[in-house]
Amino acid sequence: MVAGGKSEGELHGQVALVTGGTRGIGRAVAEALAEGGARVGVLARDGNRSREVAEELPGEGHAGVACDVADRERAQAAVKELEELLGPTGILVNNAGITRDNILLRLKDEEWDDVMAVNLKGAFNMTRAVTRGMMKRRSGVILNITSVVGLMGNAGQTNYAASKAGLVGFTKSVARELAPRQIRCNALAPGFIETDMTDALNEAQVEGLKEQIPLGRLGTPEDVAEVVRFLAGPHARYITGQVLAVDGGMAM
Ligand code: NAI
Repeated sequence: MVAGGKSEGELHGQVALVTGGTRGIGRAVAEALAEGGARVGVLARDGNRSREVAEELPGEGHAGVACDVADRERAQAAVKELEELLGPTGILVNNAGITRDNILLRLKDEEWDDVMAVNLKGAFNMTRAVTRGMMKRRSGVILNITSVVGLMGNAGQTNYAASKAGLVGFTKSVARELAPRQIRCNALAPGFIETDMTDALNEAQVEGLKEQIPLGRLGTPEDVAEVVRFLAGPHARYITGQVLAVDGGMAM
């Protein structure tokens, strides 16, 4: 509690890094963690945008830096810059992700490689950059944003689905490897969420999707962000190595 009886958020005193935190799910995650009391580091390719978003977050003491997560050296340097500004990382949310959809026979090497580089290697680069410090401090939370597509597959998204399924194996392995140091690692598998990524769908496609979603609607970035906040916080202290679908019941 602080003076005046206003209670502090459950993440007070924590530093949380969010990749791809400038829009969509990542931005909602950054807001939810800031509302929980964390100081948030926003990482995205556009450094100016990262800084702008950091300033708009609730509370004070946030920061933004430029980072292409696919670039190993930049990922290391960005974490160092943020830790100098904010302090040691307690929570990492690997949210940055891209799609380069194409049917298998037309899928180009670059489309495969780019998706793997950002979605899978990006999470590896960032996780590696924060792990040494977390191990020394014997605490930390790593959350990976995968997708129902990584669990169920999707025609036209072999590259994306493979990267997201890869993240599931990565999550479970990190969870096993780092559990002795009290570091938790979980994944969230959103279904179809209303963001720039799904804006490309036409009305007929959206109606078709809704029929596959038991709760009958697309999700919002906040639907995902609130689960991230829960998994990042003390109420989830005994949960590790899990993949939690946040998908209105699509993949049960
Ligand atoms: P979005 O396209 O709106 O935002 C993606 C964010 O990642 C942006 O801030 C972008 O700047 C950043 N980003 C992209 N490449 C980057 C790189 N190389 N380095 C650093 N930042 C990079 O996407 P959305 O919809 O918010 O998705 C966020 C995550 O959730 C992604 O991993 C996506 O695969 C996943 N997801 C999204 C679903 C949806 O329906 N929108 C469903 C399931 C998973």
